[in-house]
Amino acid sequence: MSSHGDPIPMTSAASGPLSGRADVPGDKSISHRSLILGAMAVGETTITGLLEGQDVLDTARAMRAFGAEVTDLGGGKWSVHGVGVGGFAEPDQVIDCGNSGTGVRLIMGAMATSPISVTFTGDASLNKRPMARVTDPLALFGCEAVGRSGGRLPMTLVGAADPVPAHYTVPVPSAQVKSAVLLAGLNAPGETVVIEAEATRDHTERMLAGFGADISTEVTDEGRVITLKGRPELRPQHIDVPRDPSSAAFPVCAALIVPGSDVLVPTIGLNPTRAGLFTTLREMGADLTYENERLEGGEPVADLRARFSPDLQGTEVPPERAASMIDEYPVLSVVASFAKGETHMPGVKELRVKESDRIAAMADGLRAAGVGVEDGPDWWTVLGLGHGNVPGGVTCASHLDHRIAMSFLVMGMATQKPMSVDDGGPIATSFPIFEPLMAGLGAKVRRT
Ligand code: S3P
Repeated sequence: MSSHGDPIPMTSAASGPLSGRADVPGDKSISHRSLILGAMAVGETTITGLLEGQDVLDTARAMRAFGAEVTDLGGGKWSVHGVGVGGFAEPDQVIDCGNSGTGVRLIMGAMATSPISVTFTGDASLNKRPMARVTDPLALFGCEAVGRSGGRLPMTLVGAADPVPAHYTVPVPSAQVKSAVLLAGLNAPGETVVIEAEATRDHTERMLAGFGADISTEVTDEGRVITLKGRPELRPQHIDVPRDPSSAAFPVCAALIVPGSDVLVPTIGLNPTRAGLFTTLREMGADLTYENERLEGGEPVADLRARFSPDLQGTEVPPERAASMIDEYPVLSVVASFAKGETHMPGVKELRVKESDRIAAMADGLRAAGVGVEDGPDWWTVLGLGHGNVPGGVTCASHLDHRIAMSFLVMGMATQKPMSVDDGGPIATSFPIFEPLMAGLGAKVRRT
């Protein structure tokens, strides 16, 4: 089932050279944070380039339910009139975050230190995912949570009426957990401290500083120690959302495996906490160049140029790189199928608790398509067959997971026989223009 409607079966087939320019949509992580921080500022925040995928639209709807005025001005431009830190009203309805782990976990953090009770739910995928990783640290602020067994949604949070600040070491590498704690810390008096052993995406820290919060990060032997002073007045901002490197991954990887391709993917953020896939692809011998490297809004940005790369080699992905490419392993496993030799991906336990168990979902589909895969609890290895040798010819389950669906559709553009997915509906959560954008480059991708 698709998250919002009937399943949409899709197929892709061996495609001619992919060429042209791929203007991918706005960054999903930054889009969620723009709406949430805009809702917690006093006054009007304006946003351009917002990702209008279902996940972000669900967060926009949630912010309205908390009392912010959120307006779609058309063409990716949005306005948010915020209610200020501590100004959230109690929603009179259940907050449905659809497919979005980022949405629900960040919003839980943002409301945890306000004296309101909120019930959260999501789709069948989100309602299976672990929430205790967020509600445990939120309890340190005085927020109570009651959900289903295993810490799963639907779940009600009773925000702290008299919050205290927290000092928390994040036990898993998760930007969502880190961000939830920081957002809760906004409405707690005193200093909230979050420590992460492994650096995860740092958009929350950068954006909080932009909104005027007093936040600092120190790199120590323990890891990154982030200190936030509570009860700031957040100043509204204008945010120009950069394009999403996680979406760019799909046209980039397609170009590398489809013969004759040459694709330009402009203005992609290369923040080191997000760019691990591109480093890995280059190590595999991908013809992937960074053109016109520059700084935009304080972030490193480049136009990515990806060309067909017939001699890709398998690689060992360092586990310490995992957080910077956590959403890109599914599509990397596709590229690895077309490389010569093994690609070993250790230190990726978190892949098992994403929108689906991404190791299981990809391993099942790759094996069915004729590619060898070995896997354990926190690692997997793809036994690459080399360019031109990947059979394909199967229908894979997307498990309500946008990145699984897009990965198998990219794969089918270069396999001997077409690849299908049972449901391409979830693609709309993060990359609503995937199908026309890829077709515009010359990909044979269609609904079936
Ligand atoms: C995200 C963090 C990551 C990532 C997700 C977006 C974020 O999740 O997988 O797509 O915007 O903070 P985790 O925090 O669970 O690693």
